[in-house]
Amino acid sequence: MKVFITGGTTGIGLEIARLYLKEGAEVGICGRDLTKIPEDFRYERLKTYQVDVSNRQQIIDAVDEFVGNGELDLIIANAGVSDGDKLRLPNFEKTRKIMDINLYGVINTFEAAFKHMIKQKRGHIAAVSSVAGFVGLPAAGAYCASKSAVLTLCESYAIGLKKCGIDVTAIAPGFIDTPLTQKNKHTMPWLMPVEKAALKIKNALDRKTVLFIFPWQMKILITFLNKMPRCLYRFLMGLKITDYTKKKPIENSSL
Ligand SMILES: NC(=O)c1ccc[n+]([C@@H]2O[C@H](COP(=O)([O-])OP(=O)(O)OC[C@H]3O[C@@H](n4cnc5c(N)ncnc54)[C@H](OP(=O)(O)O)[C@@H]3O)[C@@H](O)[C@H]2O)c1
Repeated sequence: MKVFITGGTTGIGLEIARLYLKEGAEVGICGRDLTKIPEDFRYERLKTYQVDVSNRQQIIDAVDEFVGNGELDLIIANAGVSDGDKLRLPNFEKTRKIMDINLYGVINTFEAAFKHMIKQKRGHIAAVSSVAGFVGLPAAGAYCASKSAVLTLCESYAIGLKKCGIDVTAIAPGFIDTPLTQKNKHTMPWLMPVEKAALKIKNALDRKTVLFIFPWQMKILITFLNKMPRCLYRFLMGLKITDYTKKKPIENSSL
């Protein structure tokens, strides 16, 4: 089995890679900074690529090299970044950067895999979105928008590509303990160890689940927030925002 994972240098991507490697798969991972990969993460069947997923040609070249004359079974578009300091006022430059990585990075990754899978008439493409993609969280607009777009992209592709033999999965995790969330100062309900999250994601991929939202407590909460009247949602979420002109970070989350 050949599996390519973007954003495999740390966090969720690294742990999913570990699981596939233990199972005997050939795994390709990529990231912008390969020195982040732990020293002891060495496998014969592992290939690493220095790639910025927002660069279309870089990810296409890496996937082509990884596939070689073989076939690609699964690609996981996992690479992503969060809003970081979560300012009350939008930072448009950062917004474009987040969209470039979290949305266009996923599109580039899917394109890189699609050309192989359409020839093979089979394959599985997956993306790691977020529960943040179901709502507009204050001070995390870019992150929510990027993850929301990934969810609908995957839903559409899941329907459209079924007849080509290509399965599509969108993963929407809650809070997972990784470098991305370790900088959060606020409380993170139902924070899950990354090893446990990776196993849940792999099991969902094995089942070819179209949309996997976890943990279950976060799934209930986000479904409730997503379905409630929008004026009520805006009222509740707006309670903490007092002065939109102050450039002070607010305690909200990207997850
Ligand atoms: N942790 C959570 O609570 C949580 C919740 C919901 C969704 N997610 C999503 O899960 C995914 C993985 O996040 P994580 O929590 O595992 O965070 P992480 O530990 O910070 O990992 C992010 C990975 O993405 C890579 N990456 C970032 N920008 C990239 C780019 N332009 N090109 C290539 N690789 C890039 C990073 O590698 P380099 O720095 O080497 O490039 C790293 O390997 C993200 O899409 C994130 O939004 C996380």
